Amino acid sequence: MKKLNTVFCILLLAGFSFANPEPVNVPELMQTFAGEKITSKAEWESIRAPELLEKFTTEVYGRRPKVLLDDKRIKFELLDTCDAMRGTAIRKLVRCHYTGPLGEFSFPFTVFIPKKDHPVPAFVFICNRPAENVDPTRAKKSQFWPAEQIVSRGYATATFLFSDIAADNIKAGFDQGIFSVVEKSSERINESWASLSAWAWAASRIMDWIEKEPLINSKRVGVVGHSRGGKTALWTAVTDKRFAMTCVNNSGCGGTKLNHINLPKSESIARITKVFPYWFSSNYKKYANKEMSMDFDTHQLAALVAPRLLAIASASKDDWAGQLGEWWCAKLASPAWELYGKKGLVADKMPNVGEAQQEGSISYHYREGKHNLNLHDWNRYMDFADKHGWRTNP
Ligand code: GCU
Repeated sequence: MKKLNTVFCILLLAGFSFANPEPVNVPELMQTFAGEKITSKAEWESIRAPELLEKFTTEVYGRRPKVLLDDKRIKFELLDTCDAMRGTAIRKLVRCHYTGPLGEFSFPFTVFIPKKDHPVPAFVFICNRPAENVDPTRAKKSQFWPAEQIVSRGYATATFLFSDIAADNIKAGFDQGIFSVVEKSSERINESWASLSAWAWAASRIMDWIEKEPLINSKRVGVVGHSRGGKTALWTAVTDKRFAMTCVNNSGCGGTKLNHINLPKSESIARITKVFPYWFSSNYKKYANKEMSMDFDTHQLAALVAPRLLAIASASKDDWAGQLGEWWCAKLASPAWELYGKKGLVADKMPNVGEAQQEGSISYHYREGKHNLNLHDWNRYMDFADKHGWRTNP
């Protein structure tokens, strides 16, 4: 015991700290890469936000071929509409068709809309788990997409399976899924788009459909994703301003986890680009083992969501995602909201496990338990939307 105390004292004297690590040498948010200060909303929108978007496009998520943005190539087919959830909801099964330069592609999605108070707010959910988690018949139910609870709180919800868009598999290559109808994989370059961007593209197509659906209020739609789906949800909202809210659940490395902080138990860029290279533009692997010296970081990406609503969440047993790095992303992104006269994250430190920080336009909650998305998380996202009046019509 005496020995242990002595070791403890020596460590303290040596300046060793048991406190949480702090971010180090974080790249500036309100300063351009050329060193110019950004002091107004106008400068942010015309100079800084575009250069950050360009940075994350080329270096992390890749650039989508322009032909994907041509709305004349997109069509929707209503496959079925019926009553659901004991008459409290309407279910619509829809198929999105895309005519690419190299062929036809389509994917289905499921929508549940509460029967009353139209037009209702909605959540588009990117499902990165097997189909049974988003069963349109509701014979199987999963907290991963608690459609009944979402509807009972007055929100519509739409979901698609990410694997219907592009396979989540390192061996699959880029001649499958949506990629196969857009360009040949032999034409790919370092900054070409990759799977996270392809999945995000699909979430935006559901927004196209929502804009034509009178029962849903397209101005109050959030996009929700977990883990690799959380990384996708963030990129969806950054690239598609029609989403008024984004919920980024346990997204970790390549999502919200800040890189300029030493969290040794969390995933590194070297690891993620080795195991999941097909999620990102090939450029991203340049930053392997350079976390502390790279000239950009995730708070700058999250800031591109401003002035819309941003919700970030961590789980207490999810060190791999780097919870503290996820919280710092929320904190350091906040000045972008301040340019719009709003508050970002209103907090000076991480909340206790089980608590949520939801005073500003950025929400952060810290759930007890493992890497997962469950009813607790969904309820925090809906609380946040409620706080911002989403359930008040119009
Ligand atoms: C792996 C991966 C993470 C990812 C997670 C998930 O753990 O390393 O980056 O977020 O899978 O998608 O569940």
